[in-house]
Amino acid sequence: MFFVRTASERDLQKVRTLLVETWHATYDGIYGADKVQEITESWHSLVALKANLAHKGGEFLVADDGKRIGGMAFGVMADNMAKTALLRQLYVHPELQRQGIGRDLFAELESCFPDAEVMRLEVEPKNTAAIAFYEAHGFVEVDRIKDCGVVGSGIEAIVMEKPLV
Ligand SMILES: CC(C)(COP(=O)(O)OP(=O)(O)OC[C@H]1O[C@@H](n2cnc3c(N)ncnc32)[C@H](O)[C@@H]1OP(=O)(O)O)[C@@H](O)C(=O)NCCC(=O)NCCS
Repeated sequence: MFFVRTASERDLQKVRTLLVETWHATYDGIYGADKVQEITESWHSLVALKANLAHKGGEFLVADDGKRIGGMAFGVMADNMAKTALLRQLYVHPELQRQGIGRDLFAELESCFPDAEVMRLEVEPKNTAAIAFYEAHGFVEVDRIKDCGVVGSGIEAIVMEKPLV
């Protein structure tokens, strides 16, 4: 049974392993394994994860069954959009998907931003499973962009939003 709790620094190595494995399973078929390796070495380094953990006003959650970290979620308030929370990461290990862990992580995360009126995210257009998950949770497409993650990444994304009020 997995429980959702706030992450701590001692979880980060396991979170990194989860992210690397889940990224390869999700995106190798879309971007290729080399590109996934390159992205995940940067975005999911311990340094990057520590910075997320320390992010002021951020919420970094893990799903833990006492033995392993089965999923994680990270969200922040947007700097440049009023009353908007950004869902930056939501990942469940491939062996554990479709068992309600993503739903539990998201339910906790969306309750963490009382000042937000909308939650916003970016998702890869070919990631139909994630899009189905987000649609099932009330998100709708509002935009399309060409530099997901960091400016100049060249990674396309669908922008989705969900009202929180
Ligand atoms: C997307 C993801 C976070 C969903 O988490 P999960 O634990 O697998 O999903 P849940 O079991 O909580 O699913 C809840 C509901 O979402 C929908 N859903 C989830 N996965 C789905 C899929 N593959 N296809 C269609 N609908 C799906 C269903 O409505 C599901 O309810 P149901 O199982 O009763 O039908 C997870 O599959 C994942 O980590 N995928 C790989 C990484 C990824 O794409 N992350 C998002 C990046 S933007």
